Amino acid sequence: MKINGEHFRSIWFDHDSEQVMVIDQRELPFSLKCISLNTVDDTSIAINQMAVRGAPLIGATAAWGMWLATKHDPSDSNIMQAAEQLESTRPTAINLSWALNRMLTIILELPQHERAKAAKQHAEKLCDENVETNKRIGDYGLALLKKMFATTVSIKPINILTHCNAGWLATVDWGTALAPVFKAHEAGIDIHVWVDETRPRNQGASLTAWELQAHGVAHTVVTDNAGGHLMQEGQVDVCLVGSDRTARNGDVCNKVGTYLKALAAFDNGVPFYAAVPSSTIDWSCQDGVNDIPIEHRPDSEVRFVTGITNKGIIEQVRITPETSSVANPAFDVTPSRLVTGLITDQGIIEASAETLSKICPRWASNAPS
Ligand code: MRU
Repeated sequence: MKINGEHFRSIWFDHDSEQVMVIDQRELPFSLKCISLNTVDDTSIAINQMAVRGAPLIGATAAWGMWLATKHDPSDSNIMQAAEQLESTRPTAINLSWALNRMLTIILELPQHERAKAAKQHAEKLCDENVETNKRIGDYGLALLKKMFATTVSIKPINILTHCNAGWLATVDWGTALAPVFKAHEAGIDIHVWVDETRPRNQGASLTAWELQAHGVAHTVVTDNAGGHLMQEGQVDVCLVGSDRTARNGDVCNKVGTYLKALAAFDNGVPFYAAVPSSTIDWSCQDGVNDIPIEHRPDSEVRFVTGITNKGIIEQVRITPETSSVANPAFDVTPSRLVTGLITDQGIIEASAETLSKICPRWASNAPS
């Protein structure tokens, strides 16, 4: 997508410096800073400390990390160690192990002198595929929004509620849940996005709002607790969220707070869709509520908020008593019964064990990123 008219991806290989570059998302929305990743350690830190985040981007970054490891030392032991290190950075997004397994399969079957070149080509391919996948999700989601616009909401914008950031910054480009939004905006459909701020890291307030304003998409940032009220007032036509891991029974794991939005949507008859690339379906996970590992992040994310002062200084301030204990589960699981449908790169499907088991043999063997 574009920043001030210049096309950007969230991760890219800079051919002049021969470095892997990423946008440091910790700095947004205050400044656009790009950093290079030169080692496996750099890559692991960037993922763990969330300079890069969002399930598909975590996978893409790990793929480049495997290239960096292979370039440094193509031995089996180094490559396996790098994969283990990268795998331990964040536990919930399935795209991480998916991308690492793909890279390992390519790298380990080659003689050592061919490994680095193949790893680079494959990391590039994985990123390009992710862009295509998201474009397809965007097209299917656009068709859905067009239908809604034509049938249900002709005199006001379509009001979409989203949680966290499932935009282009969370992927290599386009985004998952926001791809239909960008496409609808391009198609001239009148849309407005309710952006959940998404405590504690505020990916909605800092990243989704930043993406939408950069593209001129009408949006309003709301507190995480406002969604239910907006739905009761009839101000939400559809909820669109991403997914970090989708189970075989259609349960969707996404940023903590998603489940509460789905409950409110269900109670108010608001359709609730999750945008799910095939690579985000964990075919080995039968039941999302019981089987998906939920990341618990540092207490400091709850205790402190970061903002910019009137003098333009970025500061962190504490908002809890010093001695209160805090908990920080970073994801939750929305049971499939609350999910109207999954917008995938291969079409919109029902979020159910029955539907997913029918498509599993085809998709599991050929899942794009
Ligand atoms: O903790 P984060 O910022 O990595 O969480 C991101 C999300 O929850 C996104 O909604 C999810 O990765 C889907 S993004 C395409």
